[in-house]
Amino acid sequence: MSENISLIALTVQQQMQADTTGHNFDHIQRVVKNAELILRDLPQANRAIVLAAAYMHDLADDKLVTDLAAKQNEMEKLLATAEFESDQASAVMDIISNMSFSANLVERQTLSLEGQIVQDADRLDAIGAIGITRAIYYSGHFGETVYDPLIAPREKMTKEEYRQPGTTINHFYEKLLKLADQLNTAPAKKIGQHRNQVMLDYLAEFKAEWNGER
Ligand code: ADP
Ligand code: NI
Repeated sequence: MSENISLIALTVQQQMQADTTGHNFDHIQRVVKNAELILRDLPQANRAIVLAAAYMHDLADDKLVTDLAAKQNEMEKLLATAEFESDQASAVMDIISNMSFSANLVERQTLSLEGQIVQDADRLDAIGAIGITRAIYYSGHFGETVYDPLIAPREKMTKEEYRQPGTTINHFYEKLLKLADQLNTAPAKKIGQHRNQVMLDYLAEFKAEWNGER
């Protein structure tokens, strides 16, 4: 392929290295790895679009970016410099705006096959042992309470409500345990099932220890 994925990888690495909210470049590298794994089973997907979106998907996160329009502009420039045709660049930008959990809270967005792959790759990194670690890390960063049996998990949430602090343990019920069922592609579903069980086992153990049962 003629698109310059290495340039995108390097630029994203420079921009994300300092993040301490669980969105750092380690996360990006795992998402790219997950995406490559899923691509093996779906060779009809456009590899350059998948990889560019995987690398760039957290650059315009509204938690981390104040001037969204300026950031999007910068991202479009990066894609042009990396020799993406304009329709391919739009496909990448479209995936990035529509794939996040928060963009899908109220109504589910339609995603291209490439978008479905990147969304799955990102969601796999939010569940399982890595997902548990990221949730605790994120909670600590934002000063969330770990657990309070008197605070019930929130049911249907708007994007604004989702951004309000809850508890680490409730985050599993509010988001993480829902992700495995929402995966799009067959290879991701298989991995997701295992990772979901890892979280269920962890929660059962956590509560038993909390209650002094073992
Ligand atoms: P998205 O970008 O898909 O909207 P987020 O940015 O909300 O997803 O989540 C990024 C990471 O931070 C995930 O691993 C997620 O589990 C974690 N996270 C987000 N919100 C919370 C929260 N309130 N408590 C604990 N972890 C959280
Ligand atoms: Ni991500």
